[in-house]
Amino acid sequence: MKKHVKNNVNWVGYIDWELETFHGDDYSILNGSSQNAYLIQEEKNVLIDTIWTPHRFDFVENLKKEIDLNKIDFIVANHGECDHSGALTALMDLIPDTPIYCTAQCVKSLEGQYGQRGWKFNIVKTGDTVEIGNGKKLIFIEMKMLHWPDSMATYLTGDNILFSNDAFGQHFAVEELFNDKADQCLLYKEAIKYFTNILNPFAPLITKKLDEISALNLPIDIIAPSHGAIWRQQPMQIVEKYAQWANAYQENQITVFYDTMWEGTTKIAHRIAEEIHQQSPQTVVKVFNIAKADKNEMMTEVFRSKAIAVGSPTVSNSILSSVAGWLEFLKQLKFKGKRAAAFGCYGWSGESVKILQERLRDAGFEVVDQNVRSLWNPKPADLDAAAPLVSALLA
Ligand code: FEO
Repeated sequence: MKKHVKNNVNWVGYIDWELETFHGDDYSILNGSSQNAYLIQEEKNVLIDTIWTPHRFDFVENLKKEIDLNKIDFIVANHGECDHSGALTALMDLIPDTPIYCTAQCVKSLEGQYGQRGWKFNIVKTGDTVEIGNGKKLIFIEMKMLHWPDSMATYLTGDNILFSNDAFGQHFAVEELFNDKADQCLLYKEAIKYFTNILNPFAPLITKKLDEISALNLPIDIIAPSHGAIWRQQPMQIVEKYAQWANAYQENQITVFYDTMWEGTTKIAHRIAEEIHQQSPQTVVKVFNIAKADKNEMMTEVFRSKAIAVGSPTVSNSILSSVAGWLEFLKQLKFKGKRAAAFGCYGWSGESVKILQERLRDAGFEVVDQNVRSLWNPKPADLDAAAPLVSALLA
């Protein structure tokens, strides 16, 4: 069922209450999500994006209730990823001659996924416009690598709506659609998780893009992303947050991450947490077992942190596979300006701390030399090494 956005703009997307994971199993969905598509009905009728493949037939049937499909003048594909283009195939089977406005890279991604189907692409780039009647036009803004090479935003003059696609989105199901109607805690929790896990690798580009959008001097009344709530109340609040998040963001938080075999490394983790609080009572301290906690939630806690401590026992001359996989993900997200320390127990060879330090350095962290490395179960003297480790993280 459509939802009214503003004047002749309606939301025609899909609220995905049941979704549990995204990008395969690489992104946990804890509060539902949505794929937002929009229908603009001025003198020209324009569809902005579609929805994910599994819901394509529902999408087309719902769209038919709103408009004779043959009256859609053109489609804007802001991004080729299948959560926004998956329903195109079913739709284009019914209206194969309808032009698709998108970037040159988007043609590549659509044809790469769905094959060459003879679709009529109109390739656009930043600053290109198209009149849609009633004095309104669409302005296209390339959003290269935010987060795919093909990404684009579309701005609707007159109504001052920025259809931003993935940027400013959240994996968050909001039946009421708008940010002012959403649970504010969850809205920001999901927005920062989305930024951390999907956009942070491209943070330097975001800073440049925000400057470029602001130089266009376009009044923005509504930011309508392709996932989650639409920002209609103080829409620039999320732009301001993005400016902060894209600039080596950190809060006064230190987070301890570890996995353990026989609880020795757990004891060190807990001692480090106590020591952080003792040395800096105003610092927020959190502790997570890497094998048990949600990896995307943990990465969001890394993003909030000014420093992290990571622990693993030595196993087979290396570290636990849970920690190794987690460190690979950590590296992908390209965090900036954060310190890190390593700790772990061992029984004989004892390489884990050195390996952790190397991997953390490789992931872009400033790694302190101070560590806690304990032969067998940690003894009081081993745990005393938590104090200089924490001092180094706080320095
Ligand atoms: Fe929501 Fe990059 O797709």
